[in-house]
Amino acid sequence: MSNSILVVGGGGYIGSHMVRHLAERSLPAAVLDDFSTGYRDALLGAELLEGDLGDAATLDRALGSGRFGCVMHFASFIQVGESVGQPAKYYANNVANTIALLNAMARHGVRRFIFSSSAAVYGEPERVPIPEDHPTRPVNPYGRTKLMVEELLPDYARAYGLQWAALRYFNAAGADPAGRLGERHEPETHLIPLALRACSGRLAKLTVFGEDWPTPDGTCIRDYVHVSDLCDAHLLALRHLEAGGESRAFNLGNGGGFSVRQVIDAARRVSGREPACAFAARRPGDAAVLVADATAARTVLGWKPRFDALDTIVAHAWAWEKKMAGLA
Ligand code: UFG
Repeated sequence: MSNSILVVGGGGYIGSHMVRHLAERSLPAAVLDDFSTGYRDALLGAELLEGDLGDAATLDRALGSGRFGCVMHFASFIQVGESVGQPAKYYANNVANTIALLNAMARHGVRRFIFSSSAAVYGEPERVPIPEDHPTRPVNPYGRTKLMVEELLPDYARAYGLQWAALRYFNAAGADPAGRLGERHEPETHLIPLALRACSGRLAKLTVFGEDWPTPDGTCIRDYVHVSDLCDAHLLALRHLEAGGESRAFNLGNGGGFSVRQVIDAARRVSGREPACAFAARRPGDAAVLVADATAARTVLGWKPRFDALDTIVAHAWAWEKKMAGLA
């Protein structure tokens, strides 16, 4: 029976948490990864089909097995700044390889697709919280790659019967509450892990990008969402598609924003250590405030984030950082 889930990019940050999430629920799954950015040990013993997403033979081998009824696709490059300097790398992997994946799914009759999209599809928001029908005008190649994939999904649905959900993550953060997994990007560019590296001593100083934003404390506001809650949403999206629910995009965020200063305060509170900080100029491409209106995920999917308190998100990330820094 084709009830197994292929987790593409299961060696990465969110993908590895998804693999664990499925294993904990005894749901059959396998990972496709080439470990270009992911980690073998993050699989925690899950079945691996090793290979490159751009290789048609690899995809035919995996999807032609008849085992898989769903593909969850986490394998993309995610650095906004790098996408500006190296758009070719981003369009090749995030768009062309995703098309290759969708084509292989069509060839082998694999019908369900859960896509890791991003709040980056919206660009500079006209209003916050941002609902799904907000205009999509990405301001960098990374965001455009996510939007391009979203835009071709309805065509695959019409022609090949694809059922899909595009999950637009806001700021994915936190770590496995049991401490087995966490965020391991190299280089790390995200605020919470960097603030915690400044606490552990792995980073000499956190650079804060701008203190002159039009926000109450002058620093940018983001909607941090726990990686375990993202995993819940993926499973709910699959159940929604299985029940014949509409294929569509869903925002995933808590609907509440925290400033960079508030995140630094949380890092200090949780770790009991003082992160050294330096203020610098605004980072190009940042928006002042990005907060999700995730009503649709809550009402249509029945999604209820469990770890929506900032200190909980930071505490789980701190447990992981202590492990990485050799403090635990
Ligand atoms: N920030 C700092 N210093 C740092 C890192 C970040 O001050 O060293 C600030 C940023 O300027 C921003 C906030 O912290 O205001 C959050 O930055 P992150 O890099 O952690 O996250 P982003 O909001 O830039 O990006 C996230 C995802 C992207 C996605 C984007 C969607 O990581 O993949 O949201 O808008 F594209």
